[in-house]
Amino acid sequence: MKNRLNINWDDFLTNYWQKKPVVLRQAFPNFIDPISPDELAGLAVESEIESRIVTNKDGKWDAKYGPFEEFDELGESNWSLLVQAVDHWHLEAATLVEPFRVLPHWQFEDLMISYATPQGGVGPHIDNYDVFITQGMGKRRWKVGDRNPNYHQFSAHPALLHVEAYEPIIDEELNPGDILYIPIGYPHNGVSLTESLSYSVGFRTPTSQEMLSGFADYILDNVPKGIFYQDPSMQLSDKPYQIHSYEIEMLKSQMCALIHNNELFIDWFGKQTSQPMHELNIIPLDPPYSFDELVEEVASEGALYRVPSIRIFKLGNQGYIHGEKLELPEKYIDLLCQKEQLTLDDLQDDTLLQGLLKFINKGYWYFE
Ligand code: SIN
Ligand code: CO
Repeated sequence: MKNRLNINWDDFLTNYWQKKPVVLRQAFPNFIDPISPDELAGLAVESEIESRIVTNKDGKWDAKYGPFEEFDELGESNWSLLVQAVDHWHLEAATLVEPFRVLPHWQFEDLMISYATPQGGVGPHIDNYDVFITQGMGKRRWKVGDRNPNYHQFSAHPALLHVEAYEPIIDEELNPGDILYIPIGYPHNGVSLTESLSYSVGFRTPTSQEMLSGFADYILDNVPKGIFYQDPSMQLSDKPYQIHSYEIEMLKSQMCALIHNNELFIDWFGKQTSQPMHELNIIPLDPPYSFDELVEEVASEGALYRVPSIRIFKLGNQGYIHGEKLELPEKYIDLLCQKEQLTLDDLQDDTLLQGLLKFINKGYWYFE
């Protein structure tokens, strides 16, 4: 059964989104955990799934990266297991993301699930993304501090960046179905009071630094011919050693022209932002289908499924999936973005099937 999310999005966006943290009591009324601690531990055994165990025994922090075979030696308290991108691997758990799909899909990062024993947690820290943390089974006490660019951060362990003590502006116990929303930059610490599960739905906000670097790489690959600085109106200056402000402006506008080139920018951003942030469950077809085989398969199977959480977006009238452009008419881009499952009715046009063939062979869509 799916959990139903009860959030007034207008109120939330006006008052809280990227403004301040908030506890939304019983946002998932009668919450049912879509995964058990044992199933989560089962995912942490897989090498392609990112997992961590964080312990804090006798005041000493430790963190280890998975895969993990054994949990017996960890004891009954002061540790937690965190598994990244569970939405890529566990269909029931992935249903928890669906209610958040009213927010921009391109900013969605993943569903991280943590299991914690009493006193377990990752310690006080600051994240560089926005997160909705849903409390599943058990209870956790969360302390959230105010935003402050001057907080001192330090490594409590090479894999754990902690923040100095802060005055909480939120100090509350979360029960199953409660959500804590924390915008980027607010220090927080969740200490489990019992055995517990927490579900973190993260939203990423790219930095200018990473965008400039990614765009520069794209330009080097896609605009190989040099665009040279030219100044045919140049005059002699009494200070030839001086770089003039008009020259600085011309250099800047030469560079900005590339960013303002919409075709380049859209193609770069579509490819960049549709790249996965975590491993996906993609199994390429071997041998690949021919077009005729695909038509036969559609007729016999009916439904075609998109790989869970594969990143697919529309920019302008173009579609992008998993770092690649989808060469299809706009109406099909909308259809492919909107529907995770395509039915026989959706798949009646050869143009659509021709466009999909390459991606079905790569494993981005599959028959059951
Ligand atoms: C956790 O679930 O233990 C950590 C979540 C967070 O603080 O970002
Ligand atoms: Co956090």
